[in-house]
Amino acid sequence: MDADYHYLARQLDERGLLYIHLVDHSSMGAPEVPSSTKAMFRKEFKGALILSGGYDVARAESDLAEGKCDLIAVGRLFLANPDLVTRWKSGAALNAPDMNTFYLTGPKGYTDYPSLSQ
Ligand SMILES: Cc1cc2nc3c(=O)[nH]c(=O)nc-3n(C[C@H](O)[C@H](O)[C@H](O)COP(=O)(O)O)c2cc1C
Repeated sequence: MDADYHYLARQLDERGLLYIHLVDHSSMGAPEVPSSTKAMFRKEFKGALILSGGYDVARAESDLAEGKCDLIAVGRLFLANPDLVTRWKSGAALNAPDMNTFYLTGPKGYTDYPSLSQ
């Protein structure tokens, strides 16, 4: 498996892709993506590397500072906090994502979480 991912990273790099978005869904119960795999992509792929999955502000800041990636993508916390950047900057409390509203059709769970000013 490691060899497969290594080959994939090299091939994607050779093809000049602008970025890879590597998703680790272990915070949602999926098997963890080993840190060695993420580091290998970082080493072999010269384009931008985006990491995501279960990030809070502390881990986002530290992974960026350590050069593990160029960008962090955030899913559930952004759904639940339309003003997530403001909250992260100010240290304000976060709305908790409601799993029961994931993947529904319509606005519920997508546009009805309160911002700090509401
Ligand atoms: C309601 C919902 C819808 C999502 N839709 C997509 C999607 O369409 N495509 C995709 O690649 N990932 C999708 N994701 C996954 C997120 O992009 C992200 O990888 C995942 O939520 C893990 O990041 P997080 O821990 O910051 O939430 C979705 C996640 C949620 C909760």
